[in-house]
Amino acid sequence: MLGFAFLALQAQAQNTHPLLQHEAEITEIIKGMTLEEKVNMLHGKNMFSSAGIERLGIADIEYADGPFGIREEMEPHSWKPLGWETDRATFFPTGSALAATWSPEIAYEYGKGMAIEAKLRGKDMILGPAMNIQRLPVGGRTYEYLSEDPILSGELAVGYTMGSQDQQEAVCLKHYAVNSQENMRGFVNANITERALREIYLTPFEMAVKRANAMGVMAAYNKVWGKWCSENDNLQNRILRNEWGFKGIIISDWGGTHSTVGAAIGGLDVEMPSSTYMGQALVDSVKAGVVPMEVIDSKVRNLLRVRLAIPAVPKDVANTKVTSQPETQAIAYKVASKSIVLLKNEGMLPLTKKVKTVAVIGDNATRTMALGGVGAGVKTLYEVTPLEGLQKALKGKAKIKYAQGYKPAPRARRGQPVDEAAMAQYQKELAAMKAEALKAAKGADIVLFVGGDNREVETEGSDRTTIQLPFGQEDLLKAIAEVNPKVVAIMVAGAPVDLREVQKVTKGLVYSWFNGTEGGNALADVLTGKIAPSGKLPFTLPMKLEDSPAYALGVYPQKEEEAGDVFVNLVNAGQNSNRRTERKADADYTEGIFVGYRWYATKNVKPMYPFGYGLSYVDFKYSDLKAKADKENIEVTFKLANQGGMEADEVAQVYVARPDSKVERPKYELKGFKRVAVKSGETTEVTISIPVEQLRHWNEFQHAWNVEKGKAVIYVGGSSDNLPLQTTINID
Ligand code: BGC
Repeated sequence: MLGFAFLALQAQAQNTHPLLQHEAEITEIIKGMTLEEKVNMLHGKNMFSSAGIERLGIADIEYADGPFGIREEMEPHSWKPLGWETDRATFFPTGSALAATWSPEIAYEYGKGMAIEAKLRGKDMILGPAMNIQRLPVGGRTYEYLSEDPILSGELAVGYTMGSQDQQEAVCLKHYAVNSQENMRGFVNANITERALREIYLTPFEMAVKRANAMGVMAAYNKVWGKWCSENDNLQNRILRNEWGFKGIIISDWGGTHSTVGAAIGGLDVEMPSSTYMGQALVDSVKAGVVPMEVIDSKVRNLLRVRLAIPAVPKDVANTKVTSQPETQAIAYKVASKSIVLLKNEGMLPLTKKVKTVAVIGDNATRTMALGGVGAGVKTLYEVTPLEGLQKALKGKAKIKYAQGYKPAPRARRGQPVDEAAMAQYQKELAAMKAEALKAAKGADIVLFVGGDNREVETEGSDRTTIQLPFGQEDLLKAIAEVNPKVVAIMVAGAPVDLREVQKVTKGLVYSWFNGTEGGNALADVLTGKIAPSGKLPFTLPMKLEDSPAYALGVYPQKEEEAGDVFVNLVNAGQNSNRRTERKADADYTEGIFVGYRWYATKNVKPMYPFGYGLSYVDFKYSDLKAKADKENIEVTFKLANQGGMEADEVAQVYVARPDSKVERPKYELKGFKRVAVKSGETTEVTISIPVEQLRHWNEFQHAWNVEKGKAVIYVGGSSDNLPLQTTINID
């Protein structure tokens, strides 16, 4: 009986799956295709497209970087910009900013906004969301990724995916999988337990595939369990397709394909952006009988599924208007305004009417963040900087004195030491800037220091070596606080920075991210109290870098080794000729499932600010917790009172502990959350529903998910270390 019910459900799911609406038609198309026509679809045609079938009028698939804005148009076969004007896009807040909203609904709008702009540009698939777990505070792409927690990452990825795909714009979840560091990303091998892989690193992808029917997945550059992700049968065929039922296309990261037969059999559908392995070599491999035709046919099917599900934008319609539109700019504002995290406030914020002179100090007050690093940037239509936002908001109310205070240090050319003369000159300039900043600070009613990182400091392709604030900002802040102690520091950054010194010399502390086109307006609205801050940290802010799990365990940073075939090396070394070597490095994920707050909470390591933390201008009171569970769901209900003088949003969080568990577990884990708007003085009842399945753990002996019976302690509150409500239920 159960079997039938299951099959019926499955059939129903298949009937409604957006990628399974044209199966018979696709079968017919494939029947009429030559091998060459098929293989022609399985690799890059241009830098950002793969071919359709011209003879049948089936359009190419156009890809768009992603993930936080539609990238400018480039020449077909190079990275050279075409210099158009219509491709100016909205710069959406980057990943960690989106995650700080803790709102799948806002992520949905974000995905929708990205999709609207992608359509205007004639793109079919957005290369995003970028959703690897933020394992390392120094990780180069932490600003692009969402969170250190799989459920938060997954819920947001589901929102983003649905928002985009509801506009008939496909997404491409990236980078599958375990691309949680940038150093050596092109060859590093992740040694990771099956349990950590499943519970932490794969879960967000699984959620977006199963719950949102994501149409694309990008294979990561790195290796997992010794195999390149782009030819990883385990990850691609067994888990993604067979277990999760993925029906879309797997494309390689750019230049991340390493073989013909391995990639073809291992599950890759499209080699991007070239045809080195999946062009003529693939045709030859099929002819030689090494790659079966069925394998090719199933790849073509995957591509046609996406192609027929996503209506192609006619070429004469695309790029007729500017990409960034008021409707999408409004979404960028909304995301930014709900992402800003207030970490500390000793009566400084919001700015009161008494504040008549404001000293704004810092390079990031005027720096734009849409472009930078080596990765995908956004050629944006406009970007409101923090200073511009404040000038607009305070017009006629207070006077602003701006001083740059510091600036980025001269950078060394690749492989060369920094020029000494340039450095000496820089130090001189810094001293002058400092003097000017102190002058601005002296006597001001408040100092707003706008510092943090920038897009050169946090960058794709390499991790940071430190989380210390760059360019002498700590010293500058100390000096400012001496002349005027009323300092609020605003950190413009996408990843953790060390706040130990900053904390000591400031009375207010705000995280305001790489916050997009409307970032400056959102920041000004929060600082002036037009809206209450409501973002919560999507990652732990450690006290110091050495406290973070991979550092504490000494498994990061790793060293690169030279490797190669033992015999070839021996022979070649003897002949003093070129040794055939390969770049090689192992990343040991020794902390297992104890990533982020799971580590700090369980090992009693006190962070600077915990995961989920963020203050408001009002106090929220939690009360009356009730929880019950049936076979499928845990329902958690509680009351939330806004005791302050203005409307504000709170992100309520539910963590669950399993005290009788037979396996090692973190102290507790995030299992549910909700952003709730509560009016001043009002109390609202909040219900959060958590699927019992969410309590699962990966059983490494059975290689399967288990949900343990027994006690579950439910904690509710506004941050991972402030959980005032607690109750225990039974799972049976
Ligand atoms: C990045 C991807 C990106 C691709 C195309 C790669 O270097 O890892 O995230 O989509 O380039 O720009």
